[in-house]
Amino acid sequence: METVLVVGATGNIGVSAVTAALRSKRNVLAIVRNQTSADKLVKYIGSSKGITFVEANVLSDSGVKGVVDQVRAGTLPAFQHVFSSVGGEYTTTPLLEITTSQLRRNFNTSFEANFFAYRDTIGYLLEQKNPASTWTICTGSQGDLATHPVPAMTQGALFPMTKAAARENESTNIRFNEIYLAFRVEVDELAVQHGVTKASDFGNVYEMILANPEVRSSRVRVEDVEDLKKLNYQKKF
Ligand SMILES: NC(=O)c1ccc[n+]([C@@H]2O[C@H](COP(=O)([O-])OP(=O)(O)OC[C@H]3O[C@@H](n4cnc5c(N)ncnc54)[C@H](OP(=O)(O)O)[C@@H]3O)[C@@H](O)[C@H]2O)c1
Repeated sequence: METVLVVGATGNIGVSAVTAALRSKRNVLAIVRNQTSADKLVKYIGSSKGITFVEANVLSDSGVKGVVDQVRAGTLPAFQHVFSSVGGEYTTTPLLEITTSQLRRNFNTSFEANFFAYRDTIGYLLEQKNPASTWTICTGSQGDLATHPVPAMTQGALFPMTKAAARENESTNIRFNEIYLAFRVEVDELAVQHGVTKASDFGNVYEMILANPEVRSSRVRVEDVEDLKKLNYQKKF
């Protein structure tokens, strides 16, 4: 049975990835910051079956690395897939009002943490040489729209990172893909309250990526609800 390492597992998008992994009969290795976050994930999913939790600080440049070290040592389950969606504030703060600490906090959370997740797991997946491996990240169309400058700048920084990763893995055993999301997704109970898309429905996209070996080094656009039923993807370079 395969395992998906999920970084940012307790967020709206992470919950959709955990849902997709479990629905497609895979196990999950979820990195959480503490027990409260682990409990939140179990509440959203409805059970802890199939999920191994590990506590780590994904904002630090040694957090994900420490998890991979434990996998290598055999104290945590081996994984074949990675999904990353660590995220910061979704705020409209105008550029002039963004403080240095707000800027740095958000680049640390929404850019650096996803970069560390990539840099510190990809070597492990390459070593395993599993031809079915995948690495998936969720970015947002804010990176182009910029109505919300703080998340816009962090998403904009992720775009070239995902393009480089797509190029660097074009001929490896890892299918690297970016999900480019253009509407709001929230965990199911909040989505119903707020009239937005449910994480469990958005999970279809990750399930389709896992199931389709043709999708590689691509941007998967999720711009309307039709994109939750059929993958809309194109090569990133
Ligand atoms: N939701 C959307 O509709 C949407 C749309 C387009 C793009 N995106 C992108 O997807 C990514 C995730 O979005 P989301 O809605 O899932 O965000 P979210 O619900 O706020 O979740 C963010 C995740 O990052 C973790 N995290 C945040 N700050 C942390 C910290 N200081 N230390 C440790 N972990 C921390 C959270 O852990 P805790 O649970 O412990 O706080 C959670 O697992 C973002 O980059 C966002 O731009 C989302």
